[in-house]
Amino acid sequence: MMRPVCPLADIPRGEAYRWAIDTPVAIFHTDDGEVYAVDDTCTHQDASLADGWLEGCEVECPLHASRFDLRTGQVDAPPAKKPIRTHRVEVIDGVVHVAVAEVEAGRS
Ligand code: FES
Repeated sequence: MMRPVCPLADIPRGEAYRWAIDTPVAIFHTDDGEVYAVDDTCTHQDASLADGWLEGCEVECPLHASRFDLRTGQVDAPPAKKPIRTHRVEVIDGVVHVAVAEVEAGRS
């Protein structure tokens, strides 16, 4: 189910928004204008990826510099080993909507 999160205008390009639901979601607006939603909590330790550095389609964790591909959730640089979940995003009438994925990453 798609849920409205915030106006896209609230997330400038190159920045992120932390959606503080039960399992927080980070929404990234890339320099190219793409929007991605992934789990906010790094799979290595307890860091918020929304506080990390966005570069292209990757985010670098602010704590130990793991890098994740926002398109797939895969780890591109350690120390994290497990991927983060990715969530479906749509911008509808200027509002970011996210469908939170059902499956918990790394816990199967
Ligand atoms: S907490 Fe993210 S790399 Fe360690």
